[in-house]
Amino acid sequence: MKNFNAVLRLLFTFIVLPLFTFAQPASKKSEIDKKVETLLKKMTLEEKVGQMNQYNGFWEITGPAPKEGNAKLKYEHLKQGLVGSVLNVKGVENVRKIQEIVVNESRLGIPLLFGFDVIHGHKTLFPIPLAESASWDLQAIEKSARVAAIEASAVGINWTFAPMVDISRDARWGRVMEGAGEDPYLGSKIAVARVKGFQGDDLSANNTIAATVKHMAGYGFAEAGKDYNTVDVGTSTLYNVIFPPFKAAVDNDVKTVMNSFNVLNGIPATANKFLQRDILKSKWNFGGFIVSDWGSGFEMIDHGFSENLAHVAEQSANAGSDMDMESYAYVTHLKSLVESGKVSMAVIDDAVRRILKVKFELGLFDDPYRYCNPENEKNLIYHPDHIAATLDMAKKSIVLLKNEKQLLPLSKNQKKIAVIGALADDKNSPLGNWRVGSDDFSAVSVIEGLKKYTNEFTYAKGADLVLGPVSFIDEVKINNSDTSGFKNAIDAARNSEVVIMVLGEHGFQSGEGRSRANLDLPGVQQQLLEEVYKVNKNIVLVLMNGRPLILNWADKHIPAILETWQLGTQSGNAIAEVLFGDYNPSGKLPMTFPRHLGQLPIYYNYFSTGRPGPKPEVFWSHYTDEVNQPLYPFGYGLSYTEFNYSNLKVDASNSSQIKVSVSVKNNGKYVGEEVAQLYIRDKISSTVRPVKELKGFQKFSLNLGQTKELQFVLTDTELGFYDGEGKFIVENGEFEVMVGTNSEDLLKTTFTKK
Ligand code: NOJ
Repeated sequence: MKNFNAVLRLLFTFIVLPLFTFAQPASKKSEIDKKVETLLKKMTLEEKVGQMNQYNGFWEITGPAPKEGNAKLKYEHLKQGLVGSVLNVKGVENVRKIQEIVVNESRLGIPLLFGFDVIHGHKTLFPIPLAESASWDLQAIEKSARVAAIEASAVGINWTFAPMVDISRDARWGRVMEGAGEDPYLGSKIAVARVKGFQGDDLSANNTIAATVKHMAGYGFAEAGKDYNTVDVGTSTLYNVIFPPFKAAVDNDVKTVMNSFNVLNGIPATANKFLQRDILKSKWNFGGFIVSDWGSGFEMIDHGFSENLAHVAEQSANAGSDMDMESYAYVTHLKSLVESGKVSMAVIDDAVRRILKVKFELGLFDDPYRYCNPENEKNLIYHPDHIAATLDMAKKSIVLLKNEKQLLPLSKNQKKIAVIGALADDKNSPLGNWRVGSDDFSAVSVIEGLKKYTNEFTYAKGADLVLGPVSFIDEVKINNSDTSGFKNAIDAARNSEVVIMVLGEHGFQSGEGRSRANLDLPGVQQQLLEEVYKVNKNIVLVLMNGRPLILNWADKHIPAILETWQLGTQSGNAIAEVLFGDYNPSGKLPMTFPRHLGQLPIYYNYFSTGRPGPKPEVFWSHYTDEVNQPLYPFGYGLSYTEFNYSNLKVDASNSSQIKVSVSVKNNGKYVGEEVAQLYIRDKISSTVRPVKELKGFQKFSLNLGQTKELQFVLTDTELGFYDGEGKFIVENGEFEVMVGTNSEDLLKTTFTKK
């Protein structure tokens, strides 16, 4: 067996890899490729391995050089050219100092990549990615990433570990806040918009940065929604649900991909040859490089997959993971693994070529300090244009879940308002989880936003949401018992005409490592809501949360509910504009809201069972103690106005361009924006297809009484799917096509593709 593996490795090294590398005739190789080859020839094995090594932070050495320990080791490695990239360093002065060490003191002076988690803005924070996705506004989403890149590049960063494109169907998973929700079609469009925003048209400009799609792959399918947990998915889900956003980003030239902490079908993603070599680098022809997740190599020892760190290095490098983030595996062991023949030189060269290429494309060899302009740092951070962009994005991200008797919008002359809930006065939570580059407590709170409209309100906290200070690395301690502030809140509500209750999750209750086994309003908030309701039923519930919550009681009793997620720097202003009707909400849920934990995972694009029901007897696919449907379906979101859909028509005469048209009329009392959604169902196919699949959407504005005719075109791209071997196939036959305002309220017709 050992011999067989050795033969395979030799075949791979001398036959397969050279085919990829030398597939293009020399004359066609770009200038950059030539420069890469020239540089590669000058490099020693140690220097090559150095490019594949990424270290965290160098705060210690931006002062005098460290004398001992890890900091000393890292410092020496910088000087020896044994580091290709660092992460978590920001500020032009720090970046310059570290870059200078490498450029001036290492033998070849190859500049470093400076990576950072620029996830939803850098200093100016945008809504969390899940919230932005609720806007279904690709231009605004691209702009958000563009602004993030402008600010990040102004502080010396040239590489972001974003966007996270993991599809997820389980709101218990804390990182749903960081993605685009449950749908591969919407997720792919958003992935491309974000990559374009970060990378711009010209990567060598000093305000564009390399993007990363992560985490390849399956991380969002962690069993039971528990972060880092095992992932076991079949090929249909892998190819049709998990891969599409990654593939879309690769097709749009994303420069890097991050692998993942999880085990996928038994093999850790970091040492997964199928994912990295077969799919990414071979099938998709990905030209950038793959970075591991933080210590994900090292973690393979705990997974029971690697014996020791040397084994980690061997398995990860051979499987195609090009850069090692903080495992110390490559820098410690790769050289001797090459010398002993366990890792081939071709594997190393392939990885280094990819890394150097990105450095050349960023223009770092022309000017290693191109992101180190102190003027930019001074002028671009919190630039008024960025504030305007995040306010716009924040408004577009809000979803109106319920509005009985048109309680919203409130009149600008509304008197006697009570505002209740700790989150109403919170300047920190709306910043969300990923804001390492920004300033804590810098969001506009709801109270501050309201004050721009009125002073006619009384504020009562009701109860603390959390106990003690909260940080990025600690568990959040929730107040589960102290109700001593209830009385004030109830009194305020009793004496008011309308109550605005701001409830939900703390900003650090979602995100990495923050899975929840409960999806209710945390702590004593539900109790507070019910107590207040006893004295005043005129409640507007403003929700702030990083994931879908279970809101059955609120949906049954509370007349108006606004989902505001965590909206970033301009949170309170955006919420106030919506409450008082200066902005008509237009967001649509990118993730299903369940009724019960037992329904999870829940998603709209499920397969029909053989017993879809309902049936008079018990033997059909359902819960006996809960309805099957979600509380709020995917794509759901109301407006202050009303849209009517009619006249759905299909022209299937040209089978490669099926035309679908529909009329939408604004029948209500406000100008408003709508997101029309088109779904298909492939009725009979060689592998079972979902009951609905989003395959098109359009966002548009309608004046009072205005009607718009929408046209959609369905091509093979929308009508095809991947079979179990990952082959894209398109089959003729009958399709349903459905268009409407969310994934459940739809007009429906059929066509036959010939
Ligand atoms: C771990 C996270 O999973 C990843 O998304 C992030 O980019 C790295 N840490 C670096 O902070």
